[in-house]
Amino acid sequence: MQYSITEKLPVIDTMMRPLKDLRLSVTSKCNHRCPYCMPEHSCSNLPESNIFLSDDEILYLSSIFVSLGVEKIRITGGEPLLRPNLPNLINKLSKIHGLHDLALTTNGSLLEKFAYELKASGLNRLTVSLDSIDNNIYNRMTGNRGNLIKVICGIKKAQEAGFNNIKINSVIIKGVNDSGIIDLVNFARENNLILRFIEYMDAGNSNNWTSKDVLPFENIFQTINKKYPLKILEPNYKSEVASRYGFYDGKGEIGFISSISKPFCHNCSRIRLTSDGKIYNCLFTENNFDLKTALQNNLSREDLAKQIINIWENRRDCYSQIRSEFLSSNKAISKPEMFQIGG
Ligand code: GTP
Ligand code: 5AD
Ligand code: SF4
Ligand code: SF4
Repeated sequence: MQYSITEKLPVIDTMMRPLKDLRLSVTSKCNHRCPYCMPEHSCSNLPESNIFLSDDEILYLSSIFVSLGVEKIRITGGEPLLRPNLPNLINKLSKIHGLHDLALTTNGSLLEKFAYELKASGLNRLTVSLDSIDNNIYNRMTGNRGNLIKVICGIKKAQEAGFNNIKINSVIIKGVNDSGIIDLVNFARENNLILRFIEYMDAGNSNNWTSKDVLPFENIFQTINKKYPLKILEPNYKSEVASRYGFYDGKGEIGFISSISKPFCHNCSRIRLTSDGKIYNCLFTENNFDLKTALQNNLSREDLAKQIINIWENRRDCYSQIRSEFLSSNKAISKPEMFQIGG
């Protein structure tokens, strides 16, 4: 396809999905060791990568993505607040012409410290990962690294700083934190938070995922619906990963991200850029393209854009739709870890 920098194109993949969202991982480091993402046993001796994209490189590449139709950037990690001067980078990203939404997913450990700076930086929305409000279970879900009280104080501080509609992401692992589903719902309703339950996924190669550990959407939904009847809400936008529900009493909103039992690949408009400059078309693919090297080889802006267009136009990824087929084939692929690709 011809590309001109002045032209804004809808870039469409082989399944007619437009490129709309960029998930930008700004570091693969994390101070938690959630067993479903970065389990201590397999990730404690990771070599530190020193081939990070600089702030300027991130800005430059992000502006190219926006020129190609990306409207939303979500900053992820590892834990993104571990990147030095993140509010400064956010401030620059927020000024990219044509970007409509800038959001951050964090584990909340440093939120108390950064809440006001993040608000001032131009960040639009905030999502905090919090899998339990029971101290013992929270500790288990963070590999004994998290501090529940600190995260709750961080959420309060962020609300005080002016973030509204903060979302909470809770990954549910059967037999580990599923006993706390209603407590999480109560916590969210009492504190004006949008809670989303995420089905535990077979991401990466180190979490020893088995389908037996997954509590499917239907079970989580029924547990909540029995106590607080739910009604379905319209999606906020076409490629939204969460299916939204409201409570009949009108108090709050809840979401379900059910990649295992209700795959949403047909609408997937997300590209991922890792902190060392690789782009991925899907969470579950080993295929990637090294944009950092392309940058270092002095490819022009036009040529970088053409590379991205080419990658997206040839995209056929739909892993969640073919997961069962793939798992029963016993084929092995080396999937990126969630802390590298940012969820
Ligand atoms: P909103 O902009 O608020 O709709 O955010 P979001 O739900 O897209 O972002 P968030 O980082 O909160 O994503 C929630 C979780 O959904 C991620 O951590 C992943 O676990 C999962 N997720 C997000 N995108 C995808 C995807 O494309 N495929 C799959 N399988 N899971 C995804
Ligand atoms: N399954 C589902 N969600 C996961 N996350 C990380 N690993 C997994 C997994 N295996 C989610 C966390 C966090 C986000 C960064 O990624 O909930 O919100
Ligand atoms: Fe860190 Fe988030 Fe992964 Fe937990 S889920 S280990 S907080 S990156
Ligand atoms: Fe998108 Fe891949 Fe997730 Fe499907 S499995 S929704 S293609 S990231």
